Amino acid sequence: MKKSDLHIPFEFENRRPIILNRLLYVPSNYDKHQLFNEDIVFENDNNIAIEYCSGNGDWIIEKAKTNPNINFIAVEMKFERARKIWVKMHNQNLKNLFVVLAEAFTFTKFYLKDRDVFEVFINFPDPWPKKKHKKNRLIKKAFLKDVARVLKKDSFITIVTDHISYRDEIIDTFLKSLEYRAVFQKPYFVQNIQNFGSSFFDTLFKSKGKAINFLKFQRV
Ligand SMILES: C[S@@+](CC[C@H](N)C(=O)[O-])C[C@H]1O[C@@H](n2cnc3c(N)ncnc32)[C@H](O)[C@@H]1O
Repeated sequence: MKKSDLHIPFEFENRRPIILNRLLYVPSNYDKHQLFNEDIVFENDNNIAIEYCSGNGDWIIEKAKTNPNINFIAVEMKFERARKIWVKMHNQNLKNLFVVLAEAFTFTKFYLKDRDVFEVFINFPDPWPKKKHKKNRLIKKAFLKDVARVLKKDSFITIVTDHISYRDEIIDTFLKSLEYRAVFQKPYFVQNIQNFGSSFFDTLFKSKGKAINFLKFQRV
């Protein structure tokens, strides 16, 4: 598979969600999600884990390879990055991986069923460090509410970030939510999890000597 093998077969004005060879594309500025009636399907009914904000997919590709009994969904809203994951998925014949080219909140709200997901991971969500851009942060009350809807009871969500103020904001949002309980004791994060895996940004930040924070919450 090559980059050029992924074709979106319509113009922007005629945009619609579509599944193309194990990639679900949900166009931006689109509001007829209810018209889409296909499902993401795997070869078996194994548990589904989602990684939101997958970037170039280093972390989820490795997880899919080493955990063939889990079905993984990579969610990434940038076309070039989602396409990179899609190419690697096909070239490495990873049948337990599916790529979603979509904005994470929209995908969760309109394309996932209640209590269908076994685990969620978010590695280095964009922190939008400037005050005027903070509104763009993904991990907010409304998003976590929808993630809670799709998570199975007792399942986990893990978030990894180097960014201290985003870390504290995320913890605060979880603690205010009735749908989750903290896995780690106060201050509710740890700075290492054995065998967690590594992503592009994990490697980059570690090479700069930055501390990495792991936050983990359980759906109650
Ligand atoms: C800082 S990068 C981290 C990438 C990767 N997880 C890693 O650790 O190397 C954040 C990624 O999240 C994607 N992203 C940001 N907001 C998103 C959203 N609302 N929905 C889907 N993807 C998003 C960006 O396009 C970018 O690829």
